[in-house]
Amino acid sequence: MSGRIPQAFIDDLIARSDVADVVGARITLKKTGKNYSALCPFHNEKSPSFSINPDKQFYYCFGCGASGNALTFLMEYDNLEFVEAVEALARSQGVQVPREDYRGNKKSSQEHQEQKKQTDLSLSCMEAAQNYYQQVMQQDAGKLGLDYFRSKRGLSNALLESYALGVAPEGWEGLKKHLTQAGFSEALQIELGLLVKKEDTGRVYDRFRNRVVFPIRNSKGHTVGFGGRVLDDSKPKYLNSPETPLFQKSQELYGLYEARKQPGRLDRLLVVEGYMDVVALAQQGIHWAVATLGTAASEDHLKRIFRLVNEVVFCFDGDAAGTQAAARAMQTLLPLINDGRHARFLFLPAGEDPDTLVRKEGAGLFEQRVNQAMPLAEYLISYLRQGLDLNLLDDQTRMAHAARPLIQSLADGLLKRRLITHLEGLTGFSSDDLQSQNQVPRQQVYQPLKQSTSKENPSRTLPAEEKLLRLLIRYPDLVNQVPASLEIEAQRNESAQVLHSLLEYLRKSPHITTQVLLAYWSGTNEGEAFLQRARLALELNREAAAEEILAISHYLINRKTEEQVEARYSDLLGKPETTQLPAAEMQELWKLVQQKHLKSEDK
Ligand code: UTP
Ligand code: MN
Repeated sequence: MSGRIPQAFIDDLIARSDVADVVGARITLKKTGKNYSALCPFHNEKSPSFSINPDKQFYYCFGCGASGNALTFLMEYDNLEFVEAVEALARSQGVQVPREDYRGNKKSSQEHQEQKKQTDLSLSCMEAAQNYYQQVMQQDAGKLGLDYFRSKRGLSNALLESYALGVAPEGWEGLKKHLTQAGFSEALQIELGLLVKKEDTGRVYDRFRNRVVFPIRNSKGHTVGFGGRVLDDSKPKYLNSPETPLFQKSQELYGLYEARKQPGRLDRLLVVEGYMDVVALAQQGIHWAVATLGTAASEDHLKRIFRLVNEVVFCFDGDAAGTQAAARAMQTLLPLINDGRHARFLFLPAGEDPDTLVRKEGAGLFEQRVNQAMPLAEYLISYLRQGLDLNLLDDQTRMAHAARPLIQSLADGLLKRRLITHLEGLTGFSSDDLQSQNQVPRQQVYQPLKQSTSKENPSRTLPAEEKLLRLLIRYPDLVNQVPASLEIEAQRNESAQVLHSLLEYLRKSPHITTQVLLAYWSGTNEGEAFLQRARLALELNREAAAEEILAISHYLINRKTEEQVEARYSDLLGKPETTQLPAAEMQELWKLVQQKHLKSEDK
């Protein structure tokens, strides 16, 4: 729909906003000298360990380590995604967010206006439809539907209101008449999937009839689609809006908007199968459930979830379909997992779904089930060993064979190492056996580059630039360990080139988090390169990383000096013999010879 936000604009926005203002508008601050302090909004505490430094424009919590700038605060505290946070910050400064189209050109403002008008019209048509369904629910025509929600599903009026649930009446043209009267064209209503046009007869009528309806809202809270359920056993049980310019099923998650609207911090999300499950859980106080819309969870869904929380729990029915769905979810999930992200799998007793179970046993017990759900690693192992007898060599081989592609899709990190060790024990195969063969996805293969041999490299396997790059992406604020004198020669190799851009950026915005870094650059070539490195998670803890960053920086600085000496030396020596070196150069050459001599004695 709209294009990228120019980076210069974002830089400017951060530079002009005041983190103390942004935070102060949301929590109570106390002035303590030059800084401000407060009770940390990101963890429970009794005495304040959250502090804001207005000079450096960042916040830091000594208790839980939360840190960042105005933009990250908005993302974390208001549960906003990157673009939303930029928009919110821009709004608070009264400026408009400019957009580029994907070719990087500025779209003509006229085109822009036109497109925006069209979208606004579509959104208001959807909103009018939602209002209509809500009104019907309060009238005679909606009585059956309302009863269904209340007595069959135990939903309260407040819940019905907060999810904007409604009822589509019997009959063919209720909505069509209503919207047409309100001035929306039939063509638009068809495009939005509200009406159906029969191919053969050309008849146009309401898609949702005699059903309870669930508006599907996007991250801004605009209704972009509907799901509708019959009131009895007729088929199809659920009907969903088709994909439209406003609505893509692989993007939207039912209940996510409502979950984020809840006060407090969102720590994890529960992914369930149905609309009813989401609202039934919310009715019982579990407001952090979302549902995919009649499809399996897509990569986009999961990326969205992980932008908001670090933990996701998938919930499946305890039947064969649930087992299959779990395996599919695991495969989509593996490439997105790193050491900071967690996933678990919850299998419900046969015949139950979250809706029936939470109404039967209440939120407390249900939440206990969630807390005890099977971690990804355990699930992966049990998935691999099902039906096998690991006393048999043949079955060990089978397990190893099935494990390979899964292991390969997992980013390097502690989890991967742990899984490999465990699988070595179960199958008797070596780590190499378990990881070799097949095409490894290209982006995850690291090609070691030619090393300079002049001095010991802090890393034996990766070129120094690559290692520094990965460390800085993992801990962007450790840029403070990199001496100002370090200059990266971008032309040296690809790692150096990417590192050059990163360093330049971090030196200007030293308090950014990995998440924001990735969001900020997403869509650019550098962004891709960063993301690639972020997946190749390094296993160093923060302190070790800080030391390593310092060591590599010095190595690079030394290497550069040495190479300069070398170059100058050959330069001076390389002058044609006939030319007599001027005295100054002669002296320089002599010094260089001595330096080189000393170096070789060192070794
Ligand atoms: P289920 O059949 O498991 O339904 O479908 P449910 O959520 O338990 O529904 P209730 O409790 O009988 O009302 C799970 C999800 O699959 C999609 C819907 O998104 C539904 O919520 N679905 C199911 C459809 O899209 N169409 C169907 O005909 C059935
Ligand atoms: Mn159900």
